[in-house]
Amino acid sequence: MSVRIAVLCSGGGTNLQALIDAQEAGQIDGKIVLVLSNASKAYALERARKHGIEDKFISKKQLGSDVAFNDAILAELRRVRAELVVLAGYLPIVGEQIVRAYEHRIINIHPALIPAFCGPGMYGHHVHEAVLAYGAKISGATTHFVDEQVDHGGVIMQESVPVLEDDTPDTLAARVLTVEHRILPESVRLFCAGKLGVDGRRVHVL
Ligand code: GRF
Repeated sequence: MSVRIAVLCSGGGTNLQALIDAQEAGQIDGKIVLVLSNASKAYALERARKHGIEDKFISKKQLGSDVAFNDAILAELRRVRAELVVLAGYLPIVGEQIVRAYEHRIINIHPALIPAFCGPGMYGHHVHEAVLAYGAKISGATTHFVDEQVDHGGVIMQESVPVLEDDTPDTLAARVLTVEHRILPESVRLFCAGKLGVDGRRVHVL
């Protein structure tokens, strides 16, 4: 029985698209049953519609508080009986009620090599600007389980890329994004195949 997956996005959804493509190619024993966004204009919602996947916008402003916003998201996850939650370019911090309900069942993609260049405020271009400003020689992407702290849960996969002399945040972002599009579907594939074992902070591929 394939794993029911909900994907949370805030932007263009190229990571979502990589997951959709992997699912449609039969590479993942899972089914994306819902795409949720906090941004009504997120192109990720359009990508879902194009592939016949239910899409839903949940407005933080309308709900008035982080708790109500995350309660509404949790209600959606339960409505569709999601068994795995994937954060694919999702900006809000996931509420602790969701983290508790989905322990070791929320996977996030971060565009750097955690524990470097991560944590509050480190998202999107801010990450690549910080890597270049620091003068780091490699960067990359990380998938990890989500716990109560930002970008802190057990690391599932990482892959590095070189930082080149003439890199700009855009050129580095593009190089990292190609890695993201590889390791996120692979991490989800491993999860759906029951091949991710968790031992404290460490995640083992069984
Ligand atoms: C990517 O850099 C991803 O790592 C970050 O959000 C950016 C856009 O992702 N979390 P996407 O194209 O919306 O999937």
